[in-house]
Amino acid sequence: MWPNDRFIKLCGIEMPIIQAPMAGSALSDMVVAVSQAGGLGSLACALLSVEQARKELETIRRGTSSPVNANFFCHQPPRGDAARQMNWRRRFDAYYIQLQADDTSIPASARAPFDDKMCDLVVEFHPEVVSFHFGLPDKNLLHRVTSTGAKILSTATSVDEARWLEDQGCDSIIAQGFEAGGHRGMFLTEDVSTQVGTMALVPQVADAVKVPVIAAGGIADGRGILAAFALGAAAVQMGTAYLRCPEAQISPLHRQALKDTKDNETAITNVFTGRPARSIVNRIMRGRTNIRCRPGVPVGRCCGGSAPREVRDGRVCRLQPIVVGPRRSFRSRVARSAVDQATSE
Ligand SMILES: Cc1cc2nc3c(=O)[nH]c(=O)nc-3n(C[C@H](O)[C@H](O)[C@H](O)COP(=O)(O)O)c2cc1C
Repeated sequence: MWPNDRFIKLCGIEMPIIQAPMAGSALSDMVVAVSQAGGLGSLACALLSVEQARKELETIRRGTSSPVNANFFCHQPPRGDAARQMNWRRRFDAYYIQLQADDTSIPASARAPFDDKMCDLVVEFHPEVVSFHFGLPDKNLLHRVTSTGAKILSTATSVDEARWLEDQGCDSIIAQGFEAGGHRGMFLTEDVSTQVGTMALVPQVADAVKVPVIAAGGIADGRGILAAFALGAAAVQMGTAYLRCPEAQISPLHRQALKDTKDNETAITNVFTGRPARSIVNRIMRGRTNIRCRPGVPVGRCCGGSAPREVRDGRVCRLQPIVVGPRRSFRSRVARSAVDQATSE
């Protein structure tokens, strides 16, 4: 049925649809629903402790015997540089004062990179697919993961990154266009201005590598899936499209914002974590979309996300980072029927 069945064969799934890992927005309920429907459900572990990840993986293994994906960040964690952190924080003083917000309970950076302990979990639960964002972990960790038999995926935002990932042994590459919601997985460059859209990136990556390519960014229905296949993709990874499904773990405010946001109301910003991500434009972003860090300090590594994000009432919530892509989500459908809808279209 699919013009390119390389990815479904690689992973042993029925539909070439990956529910994107979404740290902080989707847990086991979503993964089980999508995998049961024949797609590939993904558990994002970047914001989970080892114990939380274990609990989610146990629930997933109880809920489905279909292949699943466990996803990890492998960024350089920000160094504990108090002066630099304070400098970053000062840039937001006006917002903290205006909104009487308090950041004492907000950790400098809750996003942890893949490490030995998470790797132990992978060895224990052996998810059929393991995907990474921001490159790959070091060779020893990667070797331990591949030894479990897991297929390895990682995100490329350019042809150079795609070639690098293939050289390191990735089984399939996610070509993440500029439209994509969430953090840009870029790791060989920090220059956001050179990043291209899904339509331009996917065919270039498909021409440059031999492994199957997954298209990600701005895809939310059958038309997008068809286009991705025409451009050379063997699967699609959709994130924002799943955010309005009941299984998404998002707040009512977040849900409302998704409903109300228009196509031109998202933008790439680094103000929330120091790394570029596509988010719904809020008050802080209107003030400044990007913060330049000290010369010589890579933007993506210097800060830990101390921008105000406290939710106390409807007014303050507009400072919450809401990372999404520009396409509308599946309208409140359960994730299972969302997979069916997208593929039958
Ligand atoms: C809320 C949200 C959180 C995300 N978190 C992750 C993550 O933890 N790991 C990851 O590899 N990608 C993450 N992404 C990026 C997705 O993998 C994917 O590239 C993106 O959703 C595709 O664009 P779309 O949202 O337009 O479908 C996230 C995306 C969103 C919208």
